Amino acid sequence: MFATMGALGLAPTAQAASREPAFRAPSSGDFHLKGKAAAKVVVVGGGIAGLATAYELGKAGYDCTVLEARGRTGGRNFTVRGGDSTTDIHGVKQTARFSDGQYMNAGPGRIPQWMVTLDYCRELGVPIEVFTNVNANAYLYNEKAGMKAPVRYRTAKADVYGYVAELLSKATDKGALDRQITADDQERLLDFLKDFGDIGDTLDYTGSPRRGYRVDPAAAGTPGEELGSVPSASEVFASGVGRYFAFEFEYDQAMLMFQPVGGMDRIPAALTRAIGERRIRTGAAVTEITDTAHGVTVTYTQSGRTRSIEADYCVAALPPNILAKTAHNLGPAVQTALEACKPSSAGKIGLEYRNRWWESDHQIYGGITETDMDLAHIWYPSYGHQGRRGTIIGYYNTGSNADAYAALTPREREARAVAQGVKIHGEKYRTELATSFSHHWRQTPYLEASWHSLSGGPDAPVFAPLNRAAGRVYFAGDYLSYADAWQHGAFTSARKAVTALHTRVLG
Ligand code: ALA
Repeated sequence: MFATMGALGLAPTAQAASREPAFRAPSSGDFHLKGKAAAKVVVVGGGIAGLATAYELGKAGYDCTVLEARGRTGGRNFTVRGGDSTTDIHGVKQTARFSDGQYMNAGPGRIPQWMVTLDYCRELGVPIEVFTNVNANAYLYNEKAGMKAPVRYRTAKADVYGYVAELLSKATDKGALDRQITADDQERLLDFLKDFGDIGDTLDYTGSPRRGYRVDPAAAGTPGEELGSVPSASEVFASGVGRYFAFEFEYDQAMLMFQPVGGMDRIPAALTRAIGERRIRTGAAVTEITDTAHGVTVTYTQSGRTRSIEADYCVAALPPNILAKTAHNLGPAVQTALEACKPSSAGKIGLEYRNRWWESDHQIYGGITETDMDLAHIWYPSYGHQGRRGTIIGYYNTGSNADAYAALTPREREARAVAQGVKIHGEKYRTELATSFSHHWRQTPYLEASWHSLSGGPDAPVFAPLNRAAGRVYFAGDYLSYADAWQHGAFTSARKAVTALHTRVLG
């Protein structure tokens, strides 16, 4: 009903971010004016791009059918709960044993405020909550750089900012910037640096309460005891902890960030409901796409049977590396472009613990610990705070680190992740563990990629054949966007394909 109201202009439709060209969802009213009729469209791929395509076209009454090779919609948007099973391309089967209420987002896990993904959450009625992407209480631990123990983000930041402020202010004070900026601006810079690095009028960094406390301030008589033993500037720079701070400045990673309440797959679940289950065929692996000049024929297998479907148009919203292996008659330039989209690797493990020791013992409520060990990132859950159990992402890694873990059995992955995590958190990382589940996208059937790298970006000439229709076939996916590896990329790419197709149908 909501979608119908939206089509009639009685309910708000998802608003594009200000930088995206305005998107107007197709509506049935468009046809009345033009005397045309909605067409039949087959959408190949039931990930975010495919679902968004069928959802937006559905607003105007297009007769859409979504063919999804896997047993469920969502594509890489995959939330793993107890009872969920996967079988990878090597035949390795895992069944998740997570307790009720526990889950891991194996794919997308965080949404920046500016992305249209949040507008879809609003439109579809998917409740959201904060995802904590940065936490001053989380740890940094660079084992390869020679660190003997983890430090808190806040401590590392105080030290790095403190010494950078000291060095720059002293250089300024010695006249090293006389040729760059005026004396007045040097004064202003000094004021900023004193505050930024907490260095005082002497311009020496000697530590700061910002580093944290060994004994926290409390009632009268307990002023608190600051963390002692401030490392030297040389030790701080050698530890390499400064390399993690720019992350939170990134346009797509800065707080606040959000996640759907209950799991990222609330988004494809809501899209699936809005499109209508009857329009979506799961377990339908496409084997051939043929443009017939008057329409499109898509052949697929389902339950061991070969079937085919005819439509006026097709939107190919499956990964380019998979489409490249699928028979089609879309021409050599399309094939060359598809093959130029290089698949990347990423993996995650969910570690469910019997209690939330990271909250009770370490005072860490969400956020990310960073390390140069090959687990790369540890995510503490941004849901269920102070509940009984909790599920940490024990590794989220990419490239060769992800491939190294993917080569192991699920049990070996857990052992390796836990052995590394113990170095940061102590023995509870091992003793309190209840169960684990690992997922690797390069090894996932019908996806075989975490995301794709397109040399020169999606507008490089080689990719031009994918940014327009090949006959009656359109292409959509996050890979054809400047937000690859984000649902925003899938949504905006789908909108672009929908707009082009609808404009053509309206003639
Ligand atoms: N967008 C993905 C992330 O935030 C790559 O990790």
